[in-house]
Amino acid sequence: MLNRRRFLQRGLAASFVVSPLFQRVNATAVASKEPVVISTWNHGMPANEVAWKVLQSGGTALDAVEQGVRVPEGDPEVMSVGFGGRPDRDGHVTLDACIMDDKGNAGSVSFLEHIKHPISVARLVMEKTPHVMLSGDGALEFALQNGFKTENLLTEEAKRQWEAWKEQSDYQPEVNIENHDTISMLALDQQGNLSGACTTSGLAYKMHGRVGDSPIIGAGMFCDNEVGAAAATGHGEWVMRTVGSFLVVELMRQGHSPQEACEEAVMRIVKLKPNFDEVQIGYIAISKAGETGAYCLHPGFNYALYRDGQNKLIDADAYVK
Ligand code: GLY
Repeated sequence: MLNRRRFLQRGLAASFVVSPLFQRVNATAVASKEPVVISTWNHGMPANEVAWKVLQSGGTALDAVEQGVRVPEGDPEVMSVGFGGRPDRDGHVTLDACIMDDKGNAGSVSFLEHIKHPISVARLVMEKTPHVMLSGDGALEFALQNGFKTENLLTEEAKRQWEAWKEQSDYQPEVNIENHDTISMLALDQQGNLSGACTTSGLAYKMHGRVGDSPIIGAGMFCDNEVGAAAATGHGEWVMRTVGSFLVVELMRQGHSPQEACEEAVMRIVKLKPNFDEVQIGYIAISKAGETGAYCLHPGFNYALYRDGQNKLIDADAYVK
């Protein structure tokens, strides 16, 4: 883990001595032309396979992340994303997603129902509207106007689990620290450009109307093509309170490695919430040079990293040992 004193010393040095800071930023800003894709959790493995094909054929990082995260969105066995996602406490499957390209363009949808691929709606918000985010009925209307079809996203299995939950829940939203969550994906393409995507059905059995970090640019995901990109998974309220993904990218801009930046973003949450037993947070990050990092609060978060022709599932280092 990044030594806190060393981190603070480094930050102080950077604020008083300008030229070394610029040297460090310049060093990380050299773009790699070797494609890399990194994504959260086990469901990142099949998602990475699809993203990698796009990158290998010379496609853009933007196409790679959209095509990649559509895989878990369409898979009913992934019960925290898209079709088959666990509903809110009233039985509605409500979806959040965002996407960001290498030019700083961003699109997002929140509280969207009945549409299997919210990431593709988010991309259209980015490309076809003057806005960044559409929500609820407005997002649905926009999706339908653009050829998306409504579908029932509540599978029999998700409904069965929700009904069992209702019997003993006391109708309280549940903190989800299980090993399945948001898919966040970051990619670097052969042109040396970065993009990111993030999509989820959010906390299982959340309050109706709750929106998490995933559609919030800078919280659930952030991409700055000069520096790097970062994305989050886990308990979104804490990611929002600390603007986690933006924080990770800004730390990289100051010269920290993706690993150090992810560690510091988790430390911010530890500082804010010393009693963090019920909170799980994981970050992934990639620099413009193709260096990657990942870190989480509790052990159990893994991520899929595809580089040099190999797709690997890796356990992230955790703050709690
Ligand atoms: N990170 C997903 C959520 O909190 O909704």
